[in-house]
Amino acid sequence: MKRFEGRVALVTGAGSGIGRAVALRLASEGASVFCVDLQRAAVEETAAQLRAAGGVAHAHACDVADEAAVRACIAACLGTFGRIDHLSNMAGILRFDHFHEITLADFRRVVDVNLVGTFLMCREAIPHLLASGGNIVNAASTSALAGLPWGGAYSASKGAVLAMTRTIAIEYGRAGLRANCVCPGDIATPMSAAPRLPEDADRRWLARCSSLNGPRGPEVVAGVIAMLASDDGAHINGEDIRVDGATLS
Ligand SMILES: NC(=O)c1ccc[n+]([C@@H]2O[C@H](COP(=O)([O-])OP(=O)(O)OC[C@H]3O[C@@H](n4cnc5c(N)ncnc54)[C@H](O)[C@@H]3O)[C@@H](O)[C@H]2O)c1
Repeated sequence: MKRFEGRVALVTGAGSGIGRAVALRLASEGASVFCVDLQRAAVEETAAQLRAAGGVAHAHACDVADEAAVRACIAACLGTFGRIDHLSNMAGILRFDHFHEITLADFRRVVDVNLVGTFLMCREAIPHLLASGGNIVNAASTSALAGLPWGGAYSASKGAVLAMTRTIAIEYGRAGLRANCVCPGDIATPMSAAPRLPEDADRRWLARCSSLNGPRGPEVVAGVIAMLASDDGAHINGEDIRVDGATLS
């Protein structure tokens, strides 16, 4: 039996990596997926892949850090599919800088996309998720739980996503809405493929901090998100699940 038959999932960052894998996984289990990304061509490609596999999908281009665009995005999802049962916030950006060299503009852009974008999507979707008895999964990171060298802005944004998600869980849990985080370690996606590190950075040290046995594919995260989004996760709320192959253990 398909776990998401009759349900609508909105997935941000669906044009690449983990977001695309989540969209594919949820569609394969029967969800109608509203695929959102900054990159129009990439998100249209994802929606085409879902449809080619027999799924129901719609592509929508949106900057999650733009309040008006997020409002329009939620309205477009409701206009297309009539409801929202699940929100996966996977849109994100990563940059590496020596902490003492991070510019204010760079820090703000990372926080804007990773934290403010997640906040805006959650805020706008929550009334509709309350109506459907739905749930949220946000992308945090192992860097929300332990330090990541040169990832000062990124880890700050992910730690805040984790704290914000717990608050959503406790504030709305009694009303039937669940909100959880995944904390992936090193996952093989375009984000992690060729990180631009400071010139004198030790790549082996970074690899040791983010991965015990090498990166895994994005489908290992998508499977966990599908569990959290489904009724199998019915009593999991305010949780953060590490998907890091024991890297932080
Ligand atoms: N890859 C990893 O090792 C890893 C580890 C831990 C956490 N994460 C988190 O998982 C999530 C997905 O990462 P990924 O590895 O798939 O990265 P990715 O770069 O492959 O995909 C991220 C997607 O987000 C989109 N995006 C970026 N800015 C956006 C914006 N302002 N509005 C809308 N979309 C935007 C990009 O266009 C891209 O398609 C991110 O939040 C990331 O921080 C990734």
